Amino acid sequence: MIKRGVVVIHLPFVYEGVVSSFVSMALRLFSFSGCRSFLREHISPKATLCALRQSGWIESRLGGNFIELYGHKLQRNSLLLQDELHVLLHLCRSAEDMKTARDAVYRYHAENRNGKYKFGPVFIRLCYELGLEKMAAATLTDKEMRGFFSDFTSFNIGIDMLFVKGYYDDALEVLQFMRRQRVPFNKETLMLASAVCYKLNTTESHAICTSLIEEAQVKGRSVTRHAYCFAVALALKQNDVQRAQALFAQIVSTDRICQNLKILLLVMSGATQEAIVDLSSAVQLSKSPSFFRKPEFSQELLDQMRLRIVGEAQATEAEQVISELERAGQVTRQTLDDMLCHTPTAPKRKMAPIVREKRTSRRIRKPLHSTLTSE
Ligand SMILES: *[C@@H]1O[C@H](CO)[C@@H](O)[C@H](O)[C@H]1NC(C)=O
Repeated sequence: MIKRGVVVIHLPFVYEGVVSSFVSMALRLFSFSGCRSFLREHISPKATLCALRQSGWIESRLGGNFIELYGHKLQRNSLLLQDELHVLLHLCRSAEDMKTARDAVYRYHAENRNGKYKFGPVFIRLCYELGLEKMAAATLTDKEMRGFFSDFTSFNIGIDMLFVKGYYDDALEVLQFMRRQRVPFNKETLMLASAVCYKLNTTESHAICTSLIEEAQVKGRSVTRHAYCFAVALALKQNDVQRAQALFAQIVSTDRICQNLKILLLVMSGATQEAIVDLSSAVQLSKSPSFFRKPEFSQELLDQMRLRIVGEAQATEAEQVISELERAGQVTRQTLDDMLCHTPTAPKRKMAPIVREKRTSRRIRKPLHSTLTSE
């Protein structure tokens, strides 16, 4: 499972089909005549592959060679076989390799419009690993490749990658391309769309986000809480408090993002007194020896509240509750944006005594391989 950006994408990491063909091809390339029967009798192809991969031996010794040979093959216009393409993709380790891979998938797609195996997700994931987000975006939105990326999986990976790298305009373009090509959105796509629109923070992106969510509601598709949260936060950024309220009413959750959004919503809609009441009850909650996690509020949010009520009668009351929150350790430096764009945390353990939530590093900064193998 790949876990990065703002979504969790389920994808086989080792694609099974490649294993046996990879081993047999490796054996052919090496003429391992002596150990062939030994391998067959004692070691499963998968184990062999793992061992070879772990040592990085094949890749370093022959990967480059294979890719070079493959490049020649492409130039000779000879027929591309599915198994060979598997191996080629498997051996790609650099941007240079990926140029050959891209040429190969274009050729393969042109020759096999109805190819059984879907290389799309593997190709895009490789772009992800090698930091080739522009190549991914260009390939995903190329009309010549229509049908190669047949479902939302490849698109979701691509959009997630563009989001993580901060290419929000490109991400929106990919989303719009999906719409035009009638590639159905799943709930992760919708959440990514919401996230991208939130980051763009324009009148247009606000309108897009709203209409996508409304459409999903009308069609009875599920909208994740996270998608709603981005939409609420975007509406608030755009000062559309009414829309934010309507969207917020759809969320039935009391997690940290929602608690913070609610306070911001109350403050922005002029219901400061209600916000203060909410904050006071959060302080009370922290005093009771309960199993609930202490609600935490963003410093940024509390500052915003202060600004709104400067000189008003409630100001003193607000200051009081804010300092109580500070004393109880319920104020965090994390901004609302940090909370929204963080990895969703593991499901809550119901009755466990609450330890402070572990601060996970921002996924964007984690080394790739740890995120690839983390789940
Ligand atoms: C979002 O857009 C609004 C309206 O254009 C603008 O006033 C606001 O400062 C923007 N917010 C951020 C965080 O960029």
